[in-house]
Amino acid sequence: MYAVSGVTGHTGKVVAETLQAKGQPIRVIVRDEKKGAPWKERGAEVAVSSLDDEAALTRALSGVTGAYVLLPPDAITIDFFGSRQRMADAIGRAALDAGLPHLVFLSSIGAHVPTGHGPIGAPYHAERSFEKLGIGTTFVRAAYFLENYGSVLGAAKNDGVLPSFLPANLRHDVVTTTDIGHTAAQALLDGPRGRRVIELSGPTDVTAEEVAATLAELMVRPVKVIEAPLDAVVPTFMSFGISQHMSEVYRGMYAGFIDGVVKWEGKGERVRGAIDLKEGLRSMLG
Ligand SMILES: NC(=O)c1ccc[n+]([C@@H]2O[C@H](COP(=O)([O-])OP(=O)(O)OC[C@H]3O[C@@H](n4cnc5c(N)ncnc54)[C@H](OP(=O)(O)O)[C@@H]3O)[C@@H](O)[C@H]2O)c1
Repeated sequence: MYAVSGVTGHTGKVVAETLQAKGQPIRVIVRDEKKGAPWKERGAEVAVSSLDDEAALTRALSGVTGAYVLLPPDAITIDFFGSRQRMADAIGRAALDAGLPHLVFLSSIGAHVPTGHGPIGAPYHAERSFEKLGIGTTFVRAAYFLENYGSVLGAAKNDGVLPSFLPANLRHDVVTTTDIGHTAAQALLDGPRGRRVIELSGPTDVTAEEVAATLAELMVRPVKVIEAPLDAVVPTFMSFGISQHMSEVYRGMYAGFIDGVVKWEGKGERVRGAIDLKEGLRSMLG
């Protein structure tokens, strides 16, 4: 039996579906029992717990051979790092109390360095907490999600522009959440291997210009990158209802890419997913 959190989100859903497709019993961890109902229908156990509720999480992690956890985003928080650390602490204590043998954690490219990369500070600290637990840990350090480009697909489709806070020709690795889910599910099936680090991207790195060119090909219309300055990050994110604090945190991530802080450590396993830019964008376009 494997426990999987985040099953109503991108990666957790794929982890849970992949394990079930391989005939593995799963227990999904949801905050709201109603969201567990479709999984119950498909034969999963359902545990109701927030990722910061140590007591409920201990019950959710008891009797399983491995668990998939993540630090979910929170658009309105005014204390991103404190709240994510409280989650990581609760997950760690619950893992120990439950006797969990293997924790598979969705981490990030750049999570081997503490600062200079905005939200990636949270998985940095979580990794440091988890590796002290003395249980099997697999850190799936994912590249920039290809799905992050989803927020500008409308502009590409309707106006032929791809707004980008990354310079148009800055090469960066991307990965689909499907590839992440498959990789994390496989890590659970592999079982604990001490402290394991998987640095995961798609088949090739890309530039925003290449994303625009691929979208142009798929949509059969011109698409041009419009570079936006870093100073536009906070007002833009706040205009979408994201808290000022969180918008500033995200600004730090774009700065980290531009400054070269967000990069692979190069010490763990370097894994490339199967879904390339064209296939990933095609499925995002639907
Ligand atoms: N975006 C990137 O480029 C990037 C790169 C590397 C790593 N990452 C990591 O990937 C994470 C996002 O992964 P994702 O896309 O799979 O997530 P997602 O689609 O945003 O889904 C978040 C999941 O977490 C659940 N959740 C939220 N708060 C919770 C809580 N307090 N207790 C229990 N469950 C909770 C949500 O359930 P509800 O239905 O209850 O809301 C949902 O199932 C980021 O937070 C970051 O750590 C992101």
